[in-house]
Amino acid sequence: MDAIPAVRLDGVSKQFADSYAVHDVSLDIDAGHFFSLLGPSGCGKTTSLRMIGGFTDPTEGAVVLAGEDVTALPPNKRNVNTVFQSYALFDHLSIEDNVAFGLKRSGVAKAEIRQRVGEMLDLVQLDGLARRRPRTLSGGQRQRVALARALVNRPAVLLLDEPLAALDLKLRRQMQVELKQIQREVGITFVFVTHDQDEALTMSDRIAVMNEGRIEQCGTPEDVYEHPTSRFVAAFMGTSNLMTGTYRNGEVALADGPGLPVGRRAGIADGAAVSVSVRPEKIWLSDFEAGMSVLSGVIRETVYSGPTTTYLIELAPGVTLSVLEQNTARSRMEDRWSGGETVEFGWRPEHCLVLS
Ligand SMILES: Nc1ncnc2c1ncn2[C@@H]1O[C@H](COP(=O)(O)OP(=O)(O)O)[C@@H](O)[C@H]1O
Ligand SMILES: [Mg+2]
Repeated sequence: MDAIPAVRLDGVSKQFADSYAVHDVSLDIDAGHFFSLLGPSGCGKTTSLRMIGGFTDPTEGAVVLAGEDVTALPPNKRNVNTVFQSYALFDHLSIEDNVAFGLKRSGVAKAEIRQRVGEMLDLVQLDGLARRRPRTLSGGQRQRVALARALVNRPAVLLLDEPLAALDLKLRRQMQVELKQIQREVGITFVFVTHDQDEALTMSDRIAVMNEGRIEQCGTPEDVYEHPTSRFVAAFMGTSNLMTGTYRNGEVALADGPGLPVGRRAGIADGAAVSVSVRPEKIWLSDFEAGMSVLSGVIRETVYSGPTTTYLIELAPGVTLSVLEQNTARSRMEDRWSGGETVEFGWRPEHCLVLS
């Protein structure tokens, strides 16, 4: 028998006036997983999270937590805690009193509160700041307080709505790693909302990619990045060199360009309009193997970014591909192209996605 999922959304919709914020979403989230809801602004992530937490009622469908239908239960009757985008800390209370707040309210004994708050502040590395007020802390530290305050209640599921969005890039990267470590340590199911693909890829066990209120694809980071099943997911998950054309006989004729050899594709009929996608890091510029599709184009731009260099290669008028090369210790920098050269490039057939 399969384990009971920590969270199940069963045909859940939320309608506001005459439009759907969330439309017929079904998904299972395994206990102990770091699960991300990923998608552009307005796609229904927050509304989905609020329905799991009980802050918004679905207009259709059921919310099931650990096998129990909680659709009709208020937030405080669900074994769930939320970390909101705004930290919502109490400024008149010390850090430790902020973290202790929920436990005091539910009548936990003083000695146990002291012990659990101490453990939590330790976990989020704030043990030296217990007596300080929130306003004297940095953004990253306040986010840790909010996290400790939610985790100290030992919920089965923690909901996090873009908790790192207000932090600058370097701190955000550091907190991503820390948050993932904390999740592993406490073993609590995290449902994490973000619009940042890199963040979702870095942190998640599984990702649901949302678009206009629906789930486009749900899978591991590798699934959604390497094997997107729709044009939307391919485009949303990083740079994907999307080209459109007509499939026939193992080749895609681009609108005003050459035919791209893509190999025979099961399930795609001759004459079908398709999108072709090859990730920039999957394109080779030398040492081609047998069986590769090799084409030629003109270097239009060279963008050096430290560890990588990106070449923009014009394949045909209006069709430009982005190609990413690692600048490793073995790369010869003097061999980099400056622009205007005609070069050959290629890819393995399995790295060329054909989406109908
Ligand atoms: N209380 C509300 N009343 C009306 N429309 C809403 C309300 N909350 C959200 N929406 C709409 O629902 C859609 C999804 O919103 P939201 O879940 O906040 O998206 P996200 O968190 O992905 O940015 C948006 O179009 C938003 O305008
Ligand atoms: Mg939101």
